[in-house]
Amino acid sequence: MKKVITYGTFDLLHHGHVSLLQRARALGDYLIVGVTSENYDKERGKLNVKKSLAERVADVLATGLADEIIVEEYEGQKIDDIRRHEVDVFAIGSDWIDKFNYLKEYCRVVYLERTKNISSTMIRDASLRVISLGIIGSGRVANRFVPESKYVSGVDVAGVYNPREESATAFRDRHELRFATSDLDHFLSLIDAVYVASPHPAHAEHVREALLAGKHVLCEKPFVLTASEAAELYHLAATRRLVLLEALKTAYCPGFKHLVNLVKSGAIGQVKDISASFTKLVEGRPRELSGQQAGGSVTELGSYAFLPAIKFLGLDYHRVSFHSWCDNEGVDLFTRGLIEYPSATASFKVGLGVKTEGSLVISGTRGYAYVPAPWWKTEYFEFRRENLNDVKKYFYKFDGDGLRYELDEFVRLVNDENRRHFCMFSPAESIAAARLVETFREGKNTTKIH
Ligand code: CTP
Repeated sequence: MKKVITYGTFDLLHHGHVSLLQRARALGDYLIVGVTSENYDKERGKLNVKKSLAERVADVLATGLADEIIVEEYEGQKIDDIRRHEVDVFAIGSDWIDKFNYLKEYCRVVYLERTKNISSTMIRDASLRVISLGIIGSGRVANRFVPESKYVSGVDVAGVYNPREESATAFRDRHELRFATSDLDHFLSLIDAVYVASPHPAHAEHVREALLAGKHVLCEKPFVLTASEAAELYHLAATRRLVLLEALKTAYCPGFKHLVNLVKSGAIGQVKDISASFTKLVEGRPRELSGQQAGGSVTELGSYAFLPAIKFLGLDYHRVSFHSWCDNEGVDLFTRGLIEYPSATASFKVGLGVKTEGSLVISGTRGYAYVPAPWWKTEYFEFRRENLNDVKKYFYKFDGDGLRYELDEFVRLVNDENRRHFCMFSPAESIAAARLVETFREGKNTTKIH
């Protein structure tokens, strides 16, 4: 029996796929089709796949052309598959010409001519409404956001608002956007959705204005500075069926999401303690250290540091306390905190004027998860147990600045009228993070270090 194997994402199955499968089938007696897993697609930067793995497998099965379907989960798997299944022919479309010559060592390699004028990308683009997005603010993160947006399909950064006209214009020119304005109402009339990247104290007002104008909102962290404002804004978004998402990149990146799922599935037993640190030394008097702009270690970096506690231990802590080293203006340059839960604790360190190891350790009754620095760009983690040799290692991709992951989720939500929230970082979790920031800013349970 002559076995043929082929691979693909097979998203939104089209006649190009069917023609390829027919011709691949004709090269032998038995066709194995490898369909890429969601994780593998994300890992190789394909963020825009519409259908789930189960749906794509069902679509390929329905063609009646595949004798066997396997899932492609990792780079290098093709060699393993070809050996394991004793494959005679590897077939793939001509868009991959010469890319798989290395497989000639294991079987015959055939490049089949690709069907012209059709691709999943074309169908996706045709079916996808392109969201016109405007940016409020034109500082550092906004500058990083525009290039990242190019990796996400279905969204177009159209323009920018800044109350200072010349800043807006310079930003528009730098990123070749269509418009720049210092008139907020005019700005809101020109776009479908907003990315709020203004100074922290302005977030609440900008988010409110955008929601009242009927726009979906992606807002930089820290979302807002009080829990009641956060709750009010999520309520406003819900009543208007608008998407409101806090742009905390860690919550959306593939590595951290998988860490959450593994730990929640009991991989290290019951979580009893968490220790998370994030420090970033800054020089001079940047915005991060401006009291007027709500600067300081907790407001700048706390959203990251609180995330593991909120994700793994929940919202119902009974006490939080802080030890802070502040400058003359009362801006915290370093804060160490403890969040106490009924049956667990979470400690964190954040600093703009102190440097420490930026790792995350989640301690459980059966072992612990160790995520090395920078854990907030989760590319790698280990599960360790009593037996030092029993270590499980996990690797992920974290592309670019990582802002593409939150934007990708935002676009998906905007396009799916039935889903207004992202289950991995819910409004309640974002409100809990705002409450922690608020408690700190009120000076509650805080000991000053000199
Ligand atoms: N294919 C083809 N003709 C097309 C489109 C795809 O022969 N018009 C082939 C590809 O070469 C590959 C297989 O079908 O061998 C699966 O390709 P896949 O990447 O899933 O399809 P695309 O439509 O190219 O997807 P995308 O636009 O997301 O890259």
